Amino acid sequence: MEYQNILVTREENIGIVTFNRAKVLNALNHATMVELSAAIDELDSDRTVRCIILTGAGEKAFVAGADINELRAIASAAEGTEFAAWGQTIFFKIETLSKAVIAAVNGYALGGGCELAMACDIRMAADSAKLGQPEINLGIIPGYGGTQRLPRLVGKGRAKWLILTGDMISAQEALRIGLVDFVVPVAELMNKAKELARKIASKAPLAVAWAKKSINVGTEIDLVAACAYEASQFGLVCGTEDRVEGTTAFLEKRPAQFTGR
Ligand code: CAA
Repeated sequence: MEYQNILVTREENIGIVTFNRAKVLNALNHATMVELSAAIDELDSDRTVRCIILTGAGEKAFVAGADINELRAIASAAEGTEFAAWGQTIFFKIETLSKAVIAAVNGYALGGGCELAMACDIRMAADSAKLGQPEINLGIIPGYGGTQRLPRLVGKGRAKWLILTGDMISAQEALRIGLVDFVVPVAELMNKAKELARKIASKAPLAVAWAKKSINVGTEIDLVAACAYEASQFGLVCGTEDRVEGTTAFLEKRPAQFTGR
């Protein structure tokens, strides 16, 4: 697919998706969402890619939300529901992807942009980034999973504070409440994100995939069922060649060479 609104690049075994609509602070219009979905499929099916980074072009914005021109044009409740459900499907694809996805939050991550970062596995923010769910100022509520993922990450009270006021918070405040996992100087953001991506990419791909799935599935169900689920995923990794390689390499005191089988 030819991309108009995003850039898709590869560095070694890392895939990088860069939102590239700087004029509108990388807002997510329909075409950008279609491209994001296609880019995720492309990087998912590329066996040489073992970790993915999402970021925004420039230093000003990661993604400043859904495109407000398109929100303005929504004609009915049914259309609004369809708008949100379709976007949620794309974010679920990211959340449930078998590869790890890192959000490198280089600037504003607002509304759909904050929701996109929350659908990623790990969030690393530039010290100059600003995050929030300002939908309330537009007379709407978050629709790409924000009312659900935000309380799961930061707790109900803080989620209600952010969603009901529309307040924007600094990267440091986002770190304090658990909305992001790391804050780094803006000039170092991509290097640090790539460093983290390379580390994950060097691990056994199936172990990464099933660890991610076990955490995602397990944190939504009760502990006994979750541990049973973990045991089943543990059983699956035990059936891999990489388990034999990883344990043998340790005992032979050499680095493991994982193949993803
Ligand atoms: N959609 C469409 N255009 C947007 C946009 C968005 N989400 N965010 C910014 N833009 C456009 C602006 O209209 C402006 O365009 P023009 O140059 O043609 O006027 C351009 O990007 C630059 O923006 P500003 O001039 O506003 O830049 P600023 O530095 O003064 O302010 C900002 C930056 C605080 C991020 C401000 O742009 C802003 O508040 N943006 C909207 C953020 C927002 O409300 N996001 C939530 C969208 S709703 C949503 O995402 C719903 C959902 O859950 C799915």
